[in-house]
Amino acid sequence: MPLQGGRAVTISGLGIELPERSVSNEELSRSLDTSDEWISQRTGIRSRRIADAGVSASDLGMVAARRALEAAGLAATDVDLVLTATISPDQLMPATAARIALGAGAVNAGACDLSAGCTGFVYALALATGMVASGIYDQVLVVGAEVISSLLDWEDRATAVLFGDGAGAALVSPANGSGRILGFDLGNDGSGWELLSVPAGGSRVPASHETVSEGLHYLKMNGPEVFRFATRVVVDSANRVLELCGRSIDEVALVVPHQANLRIIDAAARRLGVPDDRIYTNLQRYGNTSCASIPLCLSDAKAEGRLAEGDLVLLMGFGAGLTWGGCLLEWGTA
Ligand code: ACO
Repeated sequence: MPLQGGRAVTISGLGIELPERSVSNEELSRSLDTSDEWISQRTGIRSRRIADAGVSASDLGMVAARRALEAAGLAATDVDLVLTATISPDQLMPATAARIALGAGAVNAGACDLSAGCTGFVYALALATGMVASGIYDQVLVVGAEVISSLLDWEDRATAVLFGDGAGAALVSPANGSGRILGFDLGNDGSGWELLSVPAGGSRVPASHETVSEGLHYLKMNGPEVFRFATRVVVDSANRVLELCGRSIDEVALVVPHQANLRIIDAAARRLGVPDDRIYTNLQRYGNTSCASIPLCLSDAKAEGRLAEGDLVLLMGFGAGLTWGGCLLEWGTA
C-alpha cells in the first residue's frame, strides 16, 4: 500500500558486512561437476563470499548494524527495535536479532526475526516503516543477515553454486529531509511452499539421525519452477506498487532487484521496459545473498554514485514461501 497518514519515513543509514573469502566459479569447479561457463551463463554469478567456519549470521549482521548506525549518526542506545530478516538464522531459537542487538549495543531495543525467504528484507522494511509512520517507534534497525553456506549441500551442484554470505542493515527513521519511503506491495503463494525449503529441523520434520543421513537439513530447490515463478511475480508486484503510489516505471531512476539470477533480472527488466543502465546488479561478485541482497545493492549503488537525491528507487524481492515484495522510495537526505 502507499503510505497514507502518519509520519513520513526514510532510510537514514546503511551498513554492510561481507566475509573476506571470495570463492570463484573456477574454484568451485575443482570440487563439483560444474564450470565457470555453466555458472556464469546460467546465472551471471562469477564469485561469492563465503564465511569461515564458526561465523554466523549474527556475526555479520551486528557489524552491518553498527555501520548503519554510524552512517546515520545515531547512538545504538537510541534504537527501539532490531528486526532481522534471514533464512539462515544462528539457531531455531532464540532470535538472531537478539544477538545482533547485543553486538551492536542496541541494549534498549526490542529484537525479533522475520522469515519470508529472500523477500525478508522488503517485508522487514515494510513492518519497520509502518511502526515508524504510526509513531509506535522512532528508530528501527532492519538487518538482512545470511550465512547460507551453512545450509548448502556442497556436493549438490544445483544449489551450491548459487548462494553467498553477507549482511546489510538499514536504519528506518522519521523523515526530516528529502528521502521518503512511498509504499509497498507484499504477497505470498503458499502453494509453492515446497519448491524452496530446508525440509527438516523444524516441528514438521524434527531433526533426527535419519533426516541428517538423508540430507534433509540442506536447502532444496526446484530451480526451474522458482525461475518461472520469479519472472512472473516480480513484474506484477512492481507494477502494482507503482500504480498504488501513482508513479510510472519511466520515472524510476534505479531498479534494485533481489539478486538471484541475472536471467531472471533481465527477463523482468524486459517485461517492465527498463533499460539495463537503470537496473542495479552485483550478484556477479556476491551470488544470491538472500535477505542481504537488497541492502548490499543499495549500499554499493550509493558508493558508486548511482543514487542521487530525488531518485525514485524500486526494490523488487522474491523468494521462498513463495513470497514477493515491491517497495518504492525516493532517495534523499534523512
Ligand atoms: N553446473 C553444471 N550443470 C548443472 C549445474 C551446475 N552447477 N546445475 C544444474 N546443472 C545441470 C542440470 O543437472 C541439468 O542437466 P540435465 O539437462 O542433464 O538434467 C541442466 O544443467 C539444466 O538444469 P536446469 O535446472 O534446468 O537449469 P536452469 O537453466 O533452470 O538453471 C538455475 C538452473 C540456475 C537454478 C535456475 O533454474 C534458477 O536460477 N532458478 C531460480 C533460482 C532462484 O531464484 N532461487 C532463489 C530464490 S530466492 C530464495 O528465497 C532463496
